[in-house]
Amino acid sequence: MVSVAPAQLVASAIACVALAACGATEETAVGFDCATADVRPYSQLGEVFAHCTPCHKGNGAPQSVRFDSYADASANAGRGAAEIAAGRMPQGGGMPDSAKELFTAWAKCGTPE
Ligand code: HEC
Repeated sequence: MVSVAPAQLVASAIACVALAACGATEETAVGFDCATADVRPYSQLGEVFAHCTPCHKGNGAPQSVRFDSYADASANAGRGAAEIAAGRMPQGGGMPDSAKELFTAWAKCGTPE
């Protein structure tokens, strides 16, 4: 005899609701799940941008790409993520995968301030 415990029914009902909610959250990039990504605001990513700002700050920044203010970082987020993915940045390397992931999640999921 097969019986389904009430607790299981409740659990699956909750899962459905949660999934529906997940589907409605922002997903700005194809193949990148912003619902499960670790997306943190710029204000908490100081250690991540520290891999870029030794060069990309101030008026002499390479190609005028700056990450030393939220406005500049947000404007260059997509290019930055592309350069990281391509392995061209940070120049000189040394950026841990965890920091690359945080940069990418931030860039692809709405660049929260
Ligand atoms: C050691 C200095 C240095 C660091 C650190 C560095 N960059 Fe760069 N970056 C450069 C230089 C120099 C260029 C110009 C390269 C060129 O023109 O070929 C550049 C170019 C770029 C560009 C423009 C590329 C293009 O052709 O469109 C982007 C975007 C960029 N960097 C993002 C980043 C990001 C994101 C980080 C941090 C994860 C970073 N860079 C760290 C030196 C640096």
